[in-house]
Parts: sequence; C-alpha cells; structure tokens
Amino acid sequence: MRTQVGIVGAGPAGLVLSHLLAREGIESVVLESRSRSSVEATLRAGVLEHGTVGLLKATGVGERMQREGAVHRGIELRFAGAGHRIDFAELTSGKTIVLYAQHEVLKDLIAARLGAGGTILFEASDASLHGVEGDSPRIRFGHDGGERELACDFVAGCDGFHGACRPSIPESARSEYTRVYPFGWFGILAEAPPSSPELIYAHHRRGFALVSTRSPQIQRLYFQCDPHDDVDRWSEDRIWSEFRARLATDDGWAPREGPIVQKNIVAMRSFVCEPMRHGRLFLAGDAAHIVPPTGAKGLNLAVADAWVLTRALAAFYREGRRDLLDAYSDTALARVWRAEHFSWWMTSMLHNFPGNDAFQERLQLSELRYVTTSRPKAVTLAENYVGLPLA
Ligand code: FAD
Ligand code: PHB
Repeated sequence: MRTQVGIVGAGPAGLVLSHLLAREGIESVVLESRSRSSVEATLRAGVLEHGTVGLLKATGVGERMQREGAVHRGIELRFAGAGHRIDFAELTSGKTIVLYAQHEVLKDLIAARLGAGGTILFEASDASLHGVEGDSPRIRFGHDGGERELACDFVAGCDGFHGACRPSIPESARSEYTRVYPFGWFGILAEAPPSSPELIYAHHRRGFALVSTRSPQIQRLYFQCDPHDDVDRWSEDRIWSEFRARLATDDGWAPREGPIVQKNIVAMRSFVCEPMRHGRLFLAGDAAHIVPPTGAKGLNLAVADAWVLTRALAAFYREGRRDLLDAYSDTALARVWRAEHFSWWMTSMLHNFPGNDAFQERLQLSELRYVTTSRPKAVTLAENYVGLPLA
C-alpha cells in the first residue's frame, strides 16, 4: 500500500488531520488499533473551543454539532459558598464554547472520511515505524490476519499518550517535561437534567468539583479523588453526598440527582515532548502532549496541531515549500505551552493539594476573588478558555 501521509491513530488528531488533508487534495490512510465501535463509544472530553467549532463548521463536519451541541456563553467559578460568573461572550467580543462530546465529534469525522472514500483501517495491530529519518518512511502493521506495509511520504503520529510513535523517536533526540498531580478526577454520567445552564468549577476544602453536561437528559460531573481509588468503593449515595458538600452555596443550591450510569477515574498529568518532529515523523495531539482536564484543552490542542500540520503539508505539496514543515514543532509548541500553563494554573487554583495548609488555601481564594473581580484577569481566563486564535 502507498499513500502520501500515513496517520497512526483515529482519535481527534488523526481524524481531523485526515479530513483537512483530503480537503487540500492530499491522500492519507489512517491506521487505528481499536474497532470502530470502541472508538465511537469511548467517553472523554466535552468542551469545544471557539476555533474548533469554527473549523468543524467551515470544513463541513459541524452540522450535527450545531444541531445537538449546546452553546455556552460563560462558566461559573464557585468558592467560599457563592458562585461568580465569567462571561466569555462579553469578555472576548462574542466568543463562546460548545458542549458536544468527543466521541460524537469522532462519529461525525469517521462518517465524513468514509463517505468521501477515505481509508481508515480499524483493528490494525502492532504498528511499527521504519525509515522516518529518510525520504521514504514505512509503517508495518497487522490487519485481517496478515502482515501489511504502508509506504508514505510522511508519518503523522496521532496515536495518543500510550502510542507507539513517540517511543520510536530515539531518546537522545527528544526531551520530555512532566508533572504528575497527586489526585485524579472521579467522573460520572447521571440520568438527570442539567443542574446548571453553564459549567460550574468549584473550589472546596474537600476538593475540586465540576458540573458539566452532555444532553438535556444526561449530566457529566467530576470530583477530585485519590488517583488510586476504586470506583466500586463509591455508592451512588456516597457520590451524591460528596457533590452536595463540595457544591453547596450559602443560598442552598444542590445538584439535580439521578441514576448514575457510568463511573470512571481519570489520572491527571501535564506532559510535553520536544520537538514534535523527528525526520519525516510528525507528532500531533496526546502523542506529544498531555494536559490535566481542568482547562478542557486536550481535544482542542489535538485539533490545533492537525490544523498547523495540514497547512505545512499543503505548502509542501502545492508549492514545494519545506519552511512550514520545518517550523511545525515550534509553531505547535507555542500553543501547547500556553495551554499547558493555563491548564496547570486552573488546576493549581481549584484543587486541594495533599499537604495544602491554610496559607495555600488563602492564596487560592485570593486568586479566585481576583479572577472574578478584575476585568483584565477575567479576560485572561476567558480568552484562554474559549481558545486563542488558530495560527
Ligand atoms: P487519542 O484520543 O488518545 O487518540 C489516539 C488513537 O490512537 C486512539 O484511538 C488509540 O486507540 C489509537 N492508537 C494508540 N496506539 C496505537 C497504535 N500503536 N496503532 C494504531 N492506533 C493506535 N480532555 C478534556 O479536555 N476533558 C476531559 O474530560 C478529558 N477526559 C479524558 C479522559 C481520558 C480517559 C483520557 C485518556 C483523555 C481525556 N481527555 C480529556 C483528553 C482528550 O480526550 C485528549 O486530549 C484527546 O483525545 C487527544 O486526542 P488524540 O487524537 O491526540 O489522542
Ligand atoms: C466534560 O464535560 O467532560 C468536561 C468539561 C470541562 C472540563 C473537562 C471535562 O474542564
């Protein structure tokens, strides 16, 4: 098999890249280790930045998102028993976010690629990269019981944090920067209408809590937990009582409760691999960087990488230019580090770190009061949350 760009991984990075490349007339083949039904059922992020929404709409894959997603014009920061609204639309000249689940975005992208005659090989096993330092890289993998080889001009490593692409770069050719947080997020899906018209990020001495939503019938909520905790130790009563405690306000607010249909624990880390390129291998998305979910940036960064890489590959194929490919890593990393800082800052301001003393708690509360009373500080949060413009 031969193609122009071999893409490993059918997550947001790989599928958006394949979709954008096709619009530029560039061929790609996507290799995905899991089945289509597993990719389409994996529950992850839910917040789409202003630029992500614009890109999906402008490239013809935003129709269902526009119909079923919910536009949010702000969020609430809740601390010391009261809520404070951050009005994104007002602070960023009209920008908003859309709540639409990651797996729904993936369903739309898979349908669009297959509908346009694109190739996605699901259940492609044991992908390994060969010759990425030269001009004719190859990807070997197993499919349909046989050994296959895909020859290509470039390889896009879009296979997530645990994928095979990043480790195939020699250790001497990459630097990695990591923070592992001493807590995780306990996430639930509950059958109950939204507790709040907008997301609530709550600071509490017992730990952080977040109220999000998926649909008029399903809520998504999270609370900070021990990353090694076991979801089976948490009964429905215990979970709701934790949410009630962390989300309580002086005027008696309480979340809307309902049957919990899913529970999971997400670990929290910050991670960046530099550079995001090795020879003809280009990393995009979680393969190159991870953020804690507090800033809702993971999916959006993957989309931004795909956009930057598409422009660079289009300049190469259309005009024979290599400058944007050479600049890819630096261009992508500038946005990545901004998102790393924002996600770390939101995480630090809102979570209870083990060993936090009263001094630390007062610093957090001071920061929260500042963000909710100073317009410049609120603008900083708002413009990062809705997403800085794509390059
Ligand atoms: P991924 O979505 O990880 O996609 C990579 C794909 O590559 C996968 O489909 C995988 O099966 C495939 N793959 C892996 N190895 C191979 C291989 N060797 N060969 C072929 N295919 C391979 N972000 C938020 O903002 N909010 C959240 O609430 C949130 N929750 C999350 C929960 C979890 C459990 C995880 C893991 C992430 C979460 N994120 C969240 C982050 C966000 O979902 C990711 O940033 C986003 O999915 C990154 O997209 P990606 O395409 O780079 O990687
Ligand atoms: C979600 O809805 O899953 C979600 C929302 C905001 C975040 C993280 C996750 O910061």
